[in-house]
Amino acid sequence: MDLFDAIQLRRSVKEFQTEAVMSDTEFRKLMDAVLLTPTSYNIQHWRFIRVTDRETRLKIKDAAWGQRPVADASEVVLICADMAAWNDRPERYWANANKEAQDMLLTMMYNFYNGKPQLQRDEAIRSTGMAAQTLMLAAKAMGYDTNPMIGFDVETMAEIINLPEHHVIGLMVAIGKAAAPANPRGGQLALEEVVFENRFH
Ligand SMILES: Cc1cc2nc3c(=O)[nH]c(=O)nc-3n(C[C@H](O)[C@H](O)[C@H](O)COP(=O)(O)O)c2cc1C
Repeated sequence: MDLFDAIQLRRSVKEFQTEAVMSDTEFRKLMDAVLLTPTSYNIQHWRFIRVTDRETRLKIKDAAWGQRPVADASEVVLICADMAAWNDRPERYWANANKEAQDMLLTMMYNFYNGKPQLQRDEAIRSTGMAAQTLMLAAKAMGYDTNPMIGFDVETMAEIINLPEHHVIGLMVAIGKAAAPANPRGGQLALEEVVFENRFH
């Protein structure tokens, strides 16, 4: 599928076919694409929970105030991030670089994040959002629909998935086959309202 078609056709679907299954091979293909999403310093600090257990799905549905896609979609993925990844064996992020480049990048990265919890969190949220968009577009290209969701109780969700310390939940994405078309678009703002030249007015 052409990328612009995938962008046009991706919509947040609320009703999913309950019998549709995404195979492990397809899921793997999807996630292999997601892992190519860019991250600052190649930190790759996203962590994904693929919810395969039915009982856990239903608990998550409750935490998401009964939103049906959680129970009905083929897959539910929580996109989380490790806010402390910048200081966790960071040489892994530049394993293919030569020693000189690796040393330079690791020093830069350390100085960039050290002592800046807000930045660490901002970066985590940035990365989960970007990963989500890759996931949704790649899913569309594979013939699947998605629904991104933040409508859930974060604390309950953290408990359900055993969210480790220093981790944050970015969002959840339901993936499956649409049982009904998405609602008409809510209304897009005009380009002129959101694009500025050089600086805000
Ligand atoms: C971060 C994020 C969180 C969202 N949370 C929910 C949600 O909890 N429940 C829901 O039904 N839709 C949710 N949506 C879907 C939005 O309502 C939808 O993306 C928006 O209305 C634009 O429609 P479209 O995605 O079909 O283009 C969310 C979307 C995003 C990007």
